[in-house]
Amino acid sequence: MSVSVRSLRNVGFAVVGSIVVAGLAIGAPVDLKDKGVGPIKQVKLGPIDPALAKQGEAVFMQKCSACHKLDERYVGPAQRGVTKRRSPEWIMNMTLNPTGMTAEDPIAQQLLGEYMVQMTFQNVSEADARAVLEFFRQSDAAAPAAAGAAPAAAAPAGAAPGGAAKPAK
Ligand code: HEC
Repeated sequence: MSVSVRSLRNVGFAVVGSIVVAGLAIGAPVDLKDKGVGPIKQVKLGPIDPALAKQGEAVFMQKCSACHKLDERYVGPAQRGVTKRRSPEWIMNMTLNPTGMTAEDPIAQQLLGEYMVQMTFQNVSEADARAVLEFFRQSDAAAPAAAGAAPAAAAPAGAAPGGAAKPAK
């Protein structure tokens, strides 16, 4: 046990290195293609459904907020921006099958290495997991400059190539 914990800690350090390189507030890389491991194979997204998001917020407060805040790292990652770094299927599989995810999914394994706590299944139904996903989508839509946003996107739009940084005088 202590051996595997130590090796996970090493993964954590490797991840810390990538934070600096990527300039992001999260360690594990953005990956919107990984669908994760679990019952969810395909999620069809429509326009954000505010009633579903409200239901999801209630589930989040009841079953997730002991470990997750929207804007702060807590026991687990800050959740704002999660829809910009993970696919909908991955988010739902992480919600429904966290131990299977940390056993088999490379991103979930990196997160475990970074946070050193195994997320546990919170007895969430598939419908509730979908509602929480809607709550995350709504939170991310309300804050476009979320933690997961790429730094490159912050470059001034009108900057002239080469001369952008020149002071006015
Ligand atoms: C016991 C604490 C705990 C609870 C409760 C918990 N989580 Fe987690 N969660 C974690 C930890 C720790 C991680 C990092 C991965 C790991 O170590 O398993 C994580 C990771 C995640 C991630 C990946 C975030 C990212 O940045 O990629 C998602 C999504 C997530 N949790 C969703 C949920 C949802 C939804 C709930 C409520 C149904 C929930 N979690 C409840 C501890 C928790």
